[in-house]
Order: sequence, then C-alpha cells, then structure tokens
Amino acid sequence: MSLAFDQSSRHDAVPNDLEAWWLPFTANRAFKKNPRMISGAKDMYYLTPEGKKIMDSAAGLWCCNAGHNRDSIVHAIQKQAAELDFSPSFNFGHPTAFALASRIAAMAPDTLDHVFFCNSGSEAVDTALKMALAYWNVRGMGSKTRLIGRERGYHGVGFGGISVGGIVNNRKFFGGLLTGVDHMPHTYNRKEQAFTKGEPEWGAHLADDLERIITLHDASTIAAVIVEPMAGSTGVLPPPKGYLKRLREICTKHDILLIFDEVISGFGRLGHAFAAERFGVTPDFICFAKAVNSGTVPMGGVIASKQVHDAFMKGPEHAIELFHGYTYSGHPLAAAAALATLDLYREEDLFEKTRKREQAWMDALMSTLQPLPNVVDIRTIGLVAAIDLAPHPDGVGKRAYDAMDKGFRDHGIMIRITADTLALTPPLIMTDNEMDELLDKVKKVILAVA
Ligand SMILES: Cc1ncc(COP(=O)(O)O)c(C=O)c1O
Repeated sequence: MSLAFDQSSRHDAVPNDLEAWWLPFTANRAFKKNPRMISGAKDMYYLTPEGKKIMDSAAGLWCCNAGHNRDSIVHAIQKQAAELDFSPSFNFGHPTAFALASRIAAMAPDTLDHVFFCNSGSEAVDTALKMALAYWNVRGMGSKTRLIGRERGYHGVGFGGISVGGIVNNRKFFGGLLTGVDHMPHTYNRKEQAFTKGEPEWGAHLADDLERIITLHDASTIAAVIVEPMAGSTGVLPPPKGYLKRLREICTKHDILLIFDEVISGFGRLGHAFAAERFGVTPDFICFAKAVNSGTVPMGGVIASKQVHDAFMKGPEHAIELFHGYTYSGHPLAAAAALATLDLYREEDLFEKTRKREQAWMDALMSTLQPLPNVVDIRTIGLVAAIDLAPHPDGVGKRAYDAMDKGFRDHGIMIRITADTLALTPPLIMTDNEMDELLDKVKKVILAVA
C-alpha cells in the first residue's frame, strides 16, 4: 500500500509499513488495507495526517475528559520530565505521587482514603481483587476466596478481570480462567427499559440474585463482589434505580467486600468525581484509571477503605505489608499529569457543568436519534449515550463497524463501537454548539448505514 504524506515533520509522519504493529481489539487486516490514521489532536478534535478534523465523540477511549492536548497538562508533563523522570516506588517515594494520592483520597467518599497506584484499568482491577483476597487472609479468614462478578461486566483484560468479567469473546479463547468465580445476571432488559433516560425504573430486584449465590456457596467462602456502577464497554447499562444500594446492603449483611470498577465512570463522566457519589453508595474499593489524567500518560489505581488498609498494617515495621506493585506505580509523569488534570477539572467546573447539562444532552439525543432507521434502543446518563442499531443481515457488528468507518472517512467523527452499539462519551469540555455538531454527525452516520 502507498501512503503519500509529507514525512518531513515528526508530527505528520506516517509509517510506510503497517505490518509490525498488531493492534489491540481491532480487525487488523481490514485496518491495514485501509487505515484510519490520527496524527494530532486539540480539545474536541483529532487531526488526520492529511489535515482533516475529526470530532472525538468518545473522549479517546473514555479517557480524555478534559479534551486533548490541554496546555496546562502538557506543561506539567514537560516540567516533570525535566525534573524527575523516574524514581522507584518500592521503598522510596516522590512528592508528586503523594500529593496526587491525597487529592484523590479527598475526592473519594469519606471512608475511602488510601490510594494504590498502577498503570491501567486492568491492573487496577487485578490489584483490587488481590487486595480483597489478601485482606481476608490477614484477618485470619483465608476461606473467603470466591469472587463474584456480573454478566456483561468489563473489567479489563488481565486474567483476574476476564474471570470476573462477563463478555463472552473476552473469555472464551483463554482457557479455564480463575477458579471460584460466579456471576450475577446483567441488568439489561430491552422490553422493560428501552429508551430510558437515566437509571431505569425496572431491575433493582436483580441484585437479590447475590443472595442466591451466597446461599449456594456460603458467605464464609466469598471474598468480594465486583461491578461497574454503570456498565460501559458492554454497551452502556446505567444501573436500575436502587440496584447498587441493594448490592451494598447484601454485601454488608454477609461481610463481603464490594468493589466498584470506576475506570470509566470516575472523574466526571456521570457529573461527579465518582459514580459512588452520584448513586450514594460507598464500596470498599474504587478502581480508577483513564480520566485521572485525561488519558495523557498511562495510570490507574485503587482507592481502598481505611478498614482494609489498616488490617494490613501489622507485624514488624521493616516488613512489606502487601506483596504487590508495579515498576511504574505512581510514575512521576503520570502523577504530574493527573495533578494538572484535576486542577483543570476544578477550574473549569467540568463535573458540575456535566451535571447541569445532563438533561439537555439526554433530551437532544432522544429527540434527534430515536426516530432514525434501525435505532432499537438508546440509553443515556451523565455525558454518556449508547445507541443500539438493529444488526445488518451480514452479521452482528457489521452495521456498527460500517458506522464507525463511514463516520471517520465521510463525516469527520470518531465513534466508539461495541457489537452493534454506538457509544458516545465526548470530552466534558464540549460546548453546546459542539453538542449540536456531534448529534448532527451521528445522525448522518446512522442514515448512511440504514
Ligand atoms: C470498567 C473498566 N474496567 C477496566 C478497564 C480496563 O482498562 P485498561 O484498558 O486501561 O486496562 C476498562 C477499559 O475500558 C473499563 O471500562
């Protein structure tokens, strides 16, 4: 294949051999025949090597909540790189990561006050699962080893995450996975919930299935329950009203830890620092990543409760309390980027702005997109929306794939897809005019694949 772009500047250079990079979660052969290349970004838009503007309707991958290439974040990363590029976090520490941990703890619900850093959402999930297992061990209750996830849950791609996750293609190729895992039912029912704005009225009773699992195995064998407060990657499933409260009550009653995977719901996506705050339910752990630094440098983490943390702080003081960690835990560049990002969220009131515009966003979505051909459901909450399209006769996923491709090539928009769902999660900086532009582009795309 030939790509005749100017390669004189590093910024618009395009590699002339696409073979070596095996892209993740991508149809590689189709991509390499006709690639969708990005070479720059600013605020709400990407730039292609040909100089075409592409609107970002997905905040990257649910991560660039402050928009792209924001000056203050870029400067913070540059300054940190010039000052301290790396320092180990095993037995040593640096001020930026401590400052960030305090900031994040202050944003989390009251009882969650210790932050463990890693580099991605998948690692955050593995960290929380391991902490939960180790917690019961250090408490002398080592029989509590079972982990409970949920159908249609996405918790990244580590063996822990795919074991508790419930997306079949992410599981079925990878052998036996972790043992001792059960799944609650997912919370989606189109007949009861179609075209709901916000939390569906129907479905809180599905939390009671946890009681069935506990009756089957006994609480003395169960370490933790993990859910996304709003399931994202499966196609956006806002929790039914009262569902999360019910899960919390059941976990508390049976002395089971509750983990909220907030890798996509954290840092403003639902108009609050965390979904835990929005839904008024406090888990024992929150997993975060992505928008903590607006997707600029890989970073993830777990916020653990004081009760969990303090249970480990026993034994001789020279001894390691938790045998877990990553070379890049609390990396200086990621931490500096995060501090600048959290400043930006606060200075620009981006969480509050999201809360205030939620109703207008949900109304505009429904009125613009519901009447279009093949739209079989729309779910929306915070600054999130999922549009389910009826599958194309050529197979599941084909219509949404075509929408993604045509969106990029013909309509100047990047759309995130999963099966036949288009997921919209734009940067929180989106203006009202940009919202109109985004909906207009999505409408054209849906018509183009009708
Ligand atoms: C809820 C949730 N957990 C975990 C992950 C995994 O994050 P990462 O891709 O950074 O490993 C994701 C990614 O989208 C996610 O949505």
